[in-house]
Amino acid sequence: MNETTIRKVLAWEALDSRGKPTVGCEVLLSGGARGQAVVPSGASTGRHEARELRDGGSRYGGNGVQSAVANVHGILAEAVHGLDAADQVDVDATLRQVDGTADLGRLGANAVLAVSIASAVAAAKGQHRPLYEAAADPGAVPLLPLPMVNILSGGAHAGRSIDVQDFLAVPLSARNFSEAIEYCARVRQGTAEVLSEMNLSVSLVADEGGLGPALPTNKAGLQAVVAGIARAGLRPGDDVGIAIDVAASQFLAHDGHYVLSAEGGRRLAPAELVEELADWCSQYPIVSLEDALAEDDWDGWKTATVRLGLQQLLGDDLFATNIERLERGIEEQVANAVLVKPNQIGTLSDARTVVRRAQGAGYNTVISARSGETEDTWLADLAVGWRTGQIKVGSTMRSERTAKWNRLLRIEAELGDAAQYAGSEAINVHRPSSASIA
Ligand code: PGA
Ligand code: ZN
Repeated sequence: MNETTIRKVLAWEALDSRGKPTVGCEVLLSGGARGQAVVPSGASTGRHEARELRDGGSRYGGNGVQSAVANVHGILAEAVHGLDAADQVDVDATLRQVDGTADLGRLGANAVLAVSIASAVAAAKGQHRPLYEAAADPGAVPLLPLPMVNILSGGAHAGRSIDVQDFLAVPLSARNFSEAIEYCARVRQGTAEVLSEMNLSVSLVADEGGLGPALPTNKAGLQAVVAGIARAGLRPGDDVGIAIDVAASQFLAHDGHYVLSAEGGRRLAPAELVEELADWCSQYPIVSLEDALAEDDWDGWKTATVRLGLQQLLGDDLFATNIERLERGIEEQVANAVLVKPNQIGTLSDARTVVRRAQGAGYNTVISARSGETEDTWLADLAVGWRTGQIKVGSTMRSERTAKWNRLLRIEAELGDAAQYAGSEAINVHRPSSASIA
């Protein structure tokens, strides 16, 4: 038995940033180190994600997680007892095997992920190393990511005021991580000023800490962010680009058309939506489009990749951090970047596999928080250790968001002159080579 052998696992029902129950877990190692994790949860959840276990019934409107907590305490704790927490692949394979289902729906992906992460955090502590270092490949140089910062929200995160779910700032010309965050905080402030002068509400924040004004059209959102960048004294497109998360699965109708409710119910066929987005890209400095089409609209996605492939085309619901879905994307040359949310797949090792495969195929990787978050900071460490190049955790407000930015700022300070920063290179589109597709 070594210092990092798992001795005990504790679990409890915690709350996420939306006030919804979630699973908290602590793993205790033989050497005395402890690691804790409280897992996040989405709102615009894709159909292909791993399945959270919720209790149903009347507590918390059916969203309680007492059954998932009991699974951690019982069957999962028993399964990992005596394993080496430093062997993440073994811990995760064991968790997956005990659950026995592909989507982890039996014991709950929320239960499984809590143990997976708490075990990684404990292992790093047990080895007296920061998590970003313990989670990295041997010899890999830590890399501070280019942040993608939420400025305006619509869709499922802001009462569906507009159809597009997120408008984000990408600080292209910033020379290091701390300067990048300063640019984004300025853009958020500048955008708030611009909206306030238009008599739009800026006092309420959306789920990810962005502004959630009632705008007349989706383009008005782009216009507001461009004006906010200029108000911040920065150059739209040169200093700060715009990323959007269309989250198109959320407004796909049964007949295969996309319905823009914020624009009088305009109905668009997939190719028409692609043309609409191309029009936005020609007028505004958009550098990244996430979930431009719905999660199962592979044909629409192919059209989008051909037409809009100069921009970063980021698959969130499309890939669901699932290696099989990513393989299909690489094979069919769909999208050129993958959003990585560990809770979409259920274990850290599975998320790690997706990052590696994407990097090998020339796809960009953006590690991401969920709209329902916690005070945890492990996501920031994974971004640095796994060298994802980009990270998306919401706005520069709300503590569950700033917890991650603050952790990255601290890592930057800790690394000092040795800190490498991904910068705008991380968002450049790399055409996959035929060798990596094969
Ligand atoms: P979710 O949103 O966490 O509600 O799924 C985040 C996103 O769509 O990127
Ligand atoms: Zn998304």
